[in-house]
Amino acid sequence: MPKTATLKLPDGKTIDFPVLPGTVGPEVVDIRALYGKAGMFTYDPGFLSTASCSSSITYIDGDAGVLLYRGYPIEQLAQHCDFLEVCYLLLYGELPNRKQKDEFVGIVTHHTMVHEQLARLYQGFRRDAHPMAVMVGVVGALSAFYHDALDINDAHHRTISAFRLIAKMPTIVAMSYKYSIGQPFVYPLNHLSYTANFMRMMFAVPAAEFKVNDVLVRAMDRIFILHADHEQNASTSTVRLSGSSGANPYACIAAGIACLWGPAHGGANEACLEMLEEIGDVSKVGEFIGKVKDKNSGVRLMGFGHRVYKNYDPRAKLMRETCHEVLNELGLHNDRLFRLALALEKIALEDDYFVSRKLYPNVDFYSGIVQRALGIPVAMFTCIFSLARTAGWIAQWQEMITDPEYKIGRPRQLYKGATKRDVKPLDKR
Ligand code: ACO
Repeated sequence: MPKTATLKLPDGKTIDFPVLPGTVGPEVVDIRALYGKAGMFTYDPGFLSTASCSSSITYIDGDAGVLLYRGYPIEQLAQHCDFLEVCYLLLYGELPNRKQKDEFVGIVTHHTMVHEQLARLYQGFRRDAHPMAVMVGVVGALSAFYHDALDINDAHHRTISAFRLIAKMPTIVAMSYKYSIGQPFVYPLNHLSYTANFMRMMFAVPAAEFKVNDVLVRAMDRIFILHADHEQNASTSTVRLSGSSGANPYACIAAGIACLWGPAHGGANEACLEMLEEIGDVSKVGEFIGKVKDKNSGVRLMGFGHRVYKNYDPRAKLMRETCHEVLNELGLHNDRLFRLALALEKIALEDDYFVSRKLYPNVDFYSGIVQRALGIPVAMFTCIFSLARTAGWIAQWQEMITDPEYKIGRPRQLYKGATKRDVKPLDKR
């Protein structure tokens, strides 16, 4: 007997709704028939209790601090895989074997260059533009270059778009950075790995030889893995909603980048680093925590708290480990901000304000410190996040397009505005 949930309406009528199980995680009440049967909508701003789709890509148990991509724990993926293997996993559902990996790496590697006309697009931006503003524009503009493969109902077109996006994002991000500092663009080199190539495109200059540092490349690769997907977060939902109208994937990813830019989402690591700079010294932590606890101050502890995790974000643990590795490699064992972050975390984790609200460090708490040590300027942090998240966005977009239940996303509303009234002529208002 399939499970149902019964809703009792104000007029006493009852309606049964199917309860659908997932493979793991909370069951959902399928209320799609509610409006047809009762003429009512549900009200759930912020989607606190609403599953907007079904998905087989990423699973989070926020209470237990668990994150799985296609069933694999993030800790194991971070330890045993590189970012392109994770991209393959997100796209195809399984980890690649050696042959599949070589093929995938080959395809991605051969799509890393961008059209020369696209490179010229950068000249239209002010040099002091925020690189995320440039990213929104340039990634959106990709659709003007690849109109040969924009049929979203063609599986081959979708696959090519996914390859192009994953391959070109490092080039586009690095070009945004180079443009902002007035250095020449650096072209990708096919014999380097995806992430080594990115580091080189970011930091090489024609006047000097560039040496790949494996420890730093591994750290950057881990940042990519940890940010690759996170189920139906705000930017992924934006990508899905944009794509639900049939919009092309480049436009959808540009929409995702725009959403990610916000300080409550991808901008949090930038905000976290600014906060650490503002606190300045371990001796000021107590005073700062006092401000955070004072609701009138409007101050939040950036990098703490998460809509879904009510436990330690597993990515934050891995990022803290990477932070140690990178700082050791660079001889920065006593990095002021890292020590400050550790002190802040310790105090917050013992403070009843944070404990009672289940506020724990999220991935952004340490990722800013790692990126800063890698030489990434603060304004580029969210661009790096968007590079990594493109893998998840495009996998989620693909999943949506091939979902037999896929429909244009069209939420309803609780209307609280004026009822019908008549327009008065201008001289009578
Ligand atoms: N510092 C201080 N208090 C906080 C914080 C914080 N960082 N986060 C939540 N709270 C408090 C709220 O004031 C609220 O307290 P109250 O119940 O007394 O009113 C309670 O904890 C619940 O907070 P909400 O804002 O309702 O939680 P929500 O799930 O809506 O917010 C969010 C999640 C936006 C991430 C929030 O925790 C936050 O602003 N954190 C700082 C920004 C940040 O680090 N964002 C990164 C998210 S991860 C990512 O995008 C990769």
